Amino acid sequence: MENPKILITGAAGQLGQVLTQQLRALYGNDNVIATDINSNIEGLAPFEYLDILNLERLRTIIQDHKITQIYHLAAILSASGERNPAFTWNINLNGLIGVLDIVKELGLDRIFFPSTIAVFGNTTPREQTAQDVPLLPETVYGMSKTAGELWCNYYHKKYGLDIRSIRYPGVIGWQSLPEGGTTDYAVEIYHGALKEKKYECFLSAHTRLPMIYMPDVINGTIQIMQAPKEAITLRYGYNLASMSFTPEEIAASIKKEIPDFEITYKPDFRQEIAASWTESIDDSKARKDWNWSPDYTLDKMTKDMIFHLKQNLNL
Ligand code: SER
Repeated sequence: MENPKILITGAAGQLGQVLTQQLRALYGNDNVIATDINSNIEGLAPFEYLDILNLERLRTIIQDHKITQIYHLAAILSASGERNPAFTWNINLNGLIGVLDIVKELGLDRIFFPSTIAVFGNTTPREQTAQDVPLLPETVYGMSKTAGELWCNYYHKKYGLDIRSIRYPGVIGWQSLPEGGTTDYAVEIYHGALKEKKYECFLSAHTRLPMIYMPDVINGTIQIMQAPKEAITLRYGYNLASMSFTPEEIAASIKKEIPDFEITYKPDFRQEIAASWTESIDDSKARKDWNWSPDYTLDKMTKDMIFHLKQNLNL
């Protein structure tokens, strides 16, 4: 098969920065076009400025670069989303519908849409949460991603678009910082541990959430996009699991490497958001359909995070 020509929206975000590099390593630098509304991240060239609501510009970039696949990552996360619900709905949902329409109009091969554990809500069973469960999300971010999944399923059924989607757990990586999410603490805690040997956590000690380390989430994303069409039996978000832990447990893992690290707790409005999500995920469908299997445990991730962050921060 010929190399795909890929466009990434939201390429300056936490996941986008790393995914862009990985896809370039796989398919060649010039075959992966990074786009974002934030043009301040270095090293993303070839890069095109893109406001996701500007469909004219999106169409032009796709045509200019003969794009065949889109990874549509541009979105506002859960905590930021609560500060401006209507704007978040507009970016997250209308942004997606615009992308889907252009994919349909121009006949692109394939599109990736990231969903999230934020689609779950207080009516969802909290442990080993199955694929098809009641979804009554509490945040506008979760609402927009739930509706987004339905639109993806609809465009596949109605127009045959080849859409692939994963419900990401909280993503942890040393390469980039998350912005405006509820799971951000699990990245910040490593920075705090290394720079100050302490961290004040905005979630309470026993709040268990599904999480995933960057190499696993990147592998899973590329894996689902490379899978043969017939392997993909769900055209809305696949449940994806790796690890689940609480702030107390990640702190204990860090203490094994940095014994004098101290965590304190000062829960804020994000506690309520986290409490509405599930604790652990049943991802048997992803394992069966496209051979998903993560590599990292909490302690293995901690060792790797600390090793790389030390180098990055010159510590
Ligand atoms: N990491 C996201 C958030 O916290 C969840 O998908 O908003």
